[in-house]
Amino acid sequence: MKKCFFILCMFCSLLTFAQKFENLAPTPPMGWNSWNTFQTNISEKLVMETADMLVSSGMKAAGYTYLVLDDGWMAMERNPKTGDLMADPKKFPNGMKAVADYVHAKGLKFGLYNCAGTKTCAGYPGTRGYEYQDARLYASFEIDYLKFDWCSADGLNAKESYTTMSKALKAAGRPILFSLCEWGNSKPWKWATNIGQMWRTTGDISRQFDGIEDKGTYHNTGVMKIVDLQDTLSRFAGPGHWNDPDMLQVGNGMTLSEDRTHFSIWCMMAAPLIAGNDIRKMSKETHALLIDKDVLAIDQDTLGVQGFKYSDKDSLQTWFKPLGNGAWAVCFLNRSATPKQAQFNWKATMVTDAVTKTSLNAQTVTYKIFDVWTKKNAGTTDKNINASVAPHDVLMLRLSR
Ligand code: GLA
Repeated sequence: MKKCFFILCMFCSLLTFAQKFENLAPTPPMGWNSWNTFQTNISEKLVMETADMLVSSGMKAAGYTYLVLDDGWMAMERNPKTGDLMADPKKFPNGMKAVADYVHAKGLKFGLYNCAGTKTCAGYPGTRGYEYQDARLYASFEIDYLKFDWCSADGLNAKESYTTMSKALKAAGRPILFSLCEWGNSKPWKWATNIGQMWRTTGDISRQFDGIEDKGTYHNTGVMKIVDLQDTLSRFAGPGHWNDPDMLQVGNGMTLSEDRTHFSIWCMMAAPLIAGNDIRKMSKETHALLIDKDVLAIDQDTLGVQGFKYSDKDSLQTWFKPLGNGAWAVCFLNRSATPKQAQFNWKATMVTDAVTKTSLNAQTVTYKIFDVWTKKNAGTTDKNINASVAPHDVLMLRLSR
């Protein structure tokens, strides 16, 4: 009898343990990361001010939960006695646990960065060979998110390395969202579903609408070029595991319509929304864009389906994303420098999502149309759409029954 009770207790605690690691990302994760604006120039002060701003700006209420410090938070060497990573004492004089406590006290979650290789991309100590020790340290800091990069990883196998770190995080016992950042090199969408909650699909995003930015030994990719690389990946995303086309460059120098286009298409792709601007100094336009509830609802829709490109003609693309309750999001994206006419005969065109096999069938259902950016009702699908889309801008609609 006693033995049965013991076995039952063991079973229940194993189940509770396993459940802790489920549901870490039922919808695409949202937050802020230091890299796109600050690179390694980060500090305790920056974290505190950003945490304050995430709350006071309404970003936290809009869903931006994670505050993530990217590369540059560590000292150049591990602790010579213990082998533990150490926070840079100048940037973080009170250590990393104090920073995590501050972020948590604001009702936010806290994330850190490291790398699977021997060094991070900015040359700080990497995790190779220290996976379990580092995971225990992160759990002792009480972090909630780990971004794990892929520099100095010569001779490593990506699937094996990320599996080891994923196991180490679980062994440390704290639910930590695991964000894989191996740039899509070995197609993590094919193998990482049970390893982490999101995986980068490309190299780094640049602050430009289109084109490639040459950085000498590597290049950064413009927003539209990144979009081109996502097209075939929608079937690999879903609740708990998301394609990550990189952090947002909204508010970092593109025009407002380019920022709107970037944000809209990230939402159509059910991408993680990790703001990368200095939110302490953002314009009211950037702020309004980042917290727009109708656009965020498309990204965060609980059906969790990544949208797909339906057509691409003369620099005007049409994207569709099935939403809960039989609704759909539609985005006409003008990639060119001249206005384009978005035309669509809803009744004559049945659109089917290959992943969910659901169809937008305006022949049998009359959908109400809502323009999510202008907040205007735009009639129903009984009438064709025929509207001008400004250069580098979008027309984004929600069709509901
Ligand atoms: C890589 C990653 C970036 C950023 C930097 C930090 O380039 O892809 O997102 O984390 O490293 O050095």
